[in-house]
Amino acid sequence: MAGRPIHLNTAGAGRVPEDVRRTMADVLDREAATGCYETEGHLDGIVNDEMYRRLARVLGAPVGDVAVFDSATRAWCSVIPRLGLGPGDRVWVTPYEYAGNLILLFNLRDRTGCRIEVVPTLPGGDLDLEWMAAHIADDVALVSVTHIPSGCGIVNPVEEIGRLLAPYRCFYAVDACQSVGQIPVDVRRIGCQLLTGAGRKFLRGPRGTAFAYVAPELRAALATDFHDLHVARIDSATGYRVHDGSARSLELAERSTAAMAGFNTALTLFEEGTPFDNKEVFEALRATLEGVPDVDLIAPGTQQSGILSFRHPAVPAGTIVARLAEQHVNAWKIVGHHTPLYMTERGVDTAVRVSTHYYNTVGEIDRFGGALREILREHA
Ligand SMILES: Cc1ncc(COP(=O)(O)O)c(C=O)c1O
Repeated sequence: MAGRPIHLNTAGAGRVPEDVRRTMADVLDREAATGCYETEGHLDGIVNDEMYRRLARVLGAPVGDVAVFDSATRAWCSVIPRLGLGPGDRVWVTPYEYAGNLILLFNLRDRTGCRIEVVPTLPGGDLDLEWMAAHIADDVALVSVTHIPSGCGIVNPVEEIGRLLAPYRCFYAVDACQSVGQIPVDVRRIGCQLLTGAGRKFLRGPRGTAFAYVAPELRAALATDFHDLHVARIDSATGYRVHDGSARSLELAERSTAAMAGFNTALTLFEEGTPFDNKEVFEALRATLEGVPDVDLIAPGTQQSGILSFRHPAVPAGTIVARLAEQHVNAWKIVGHHTPLYMTERGVDTAVRVSTHYYNTVGEIDRFGGALREILREHA
């Protein structure tokens, strides 16, 4: 498409591939022409089978352990409150935890009396694994680690942490919203029991698609208060029976067929492509930003992904993002309270986030760098 902006906001939502757009448009056309339930029936093999098999392969999971939701937060909220946490339980989070996950955990803390502890970091921002090894014990009921946070690009060592936690009682949850599709993610290698993610970001699926891997031992431990009609039936005047105990038993039955079919197409493109190839572009992005005077990079940790945030002492993040948009560059203004534990400590209220994916080019990064320098010159 002529005049398409330089998209440096895959951490918000990836650029929608033409095949995904067409799949969704075809579903909507068919729904209008023949009926919605009828279209879902026609696509049953795709939205109830193929999509799950693809997702399971992408995550390295058995197909019965994956479920699809309309947001990553919904996936998280479908599992964590059902854990039955109590006053004797400790919950570990890291400073990189996403605000939505924390809101639920704070609510559970207030209702159940469980304690929340924040894993400390080393001076450069890496998680202190020695502290984790020294303090882990069987009263830790849940450990939640964000693989890559939404506000900066650190890649946390989820596999190493999985090995460290394996002998203990805790369930291990990984928020992979910003990592799936960007870097390799395999639940067997991580050793987690829960992994949540969004379809719209580095997998380039539609808005309103997300997923979870939920291990059988975690499902067995959940006090699930509701099952929808795709997995349960009322079989007497007073009771019901759950006939599908797979991870799909955590889903709700109603969903958008267009979104499901579009997500299947995104997963197909992902499986057929070479999606992890953005190193050169990211290095160009980092070098570009390091070369811009007075820019303060927010880049904790030794291992970085394709996400980089920055501030300028004189020009507000919102102004930079708006002016970049005028130059056809999509960047994003992040707010510190979305990754509150880390950003508050660092004193970040707002910052500009840029994120690269395999479809970005070094030429685009050069144009972004030129536009940014010009904006800062004008406003500083
Ligand atoms: C690290 C992280 N976790 C969770 C979420 C929440 O995802 P959703 O908006 O699909 O609920 C986001 C969203 O950006 C995120 O970046």
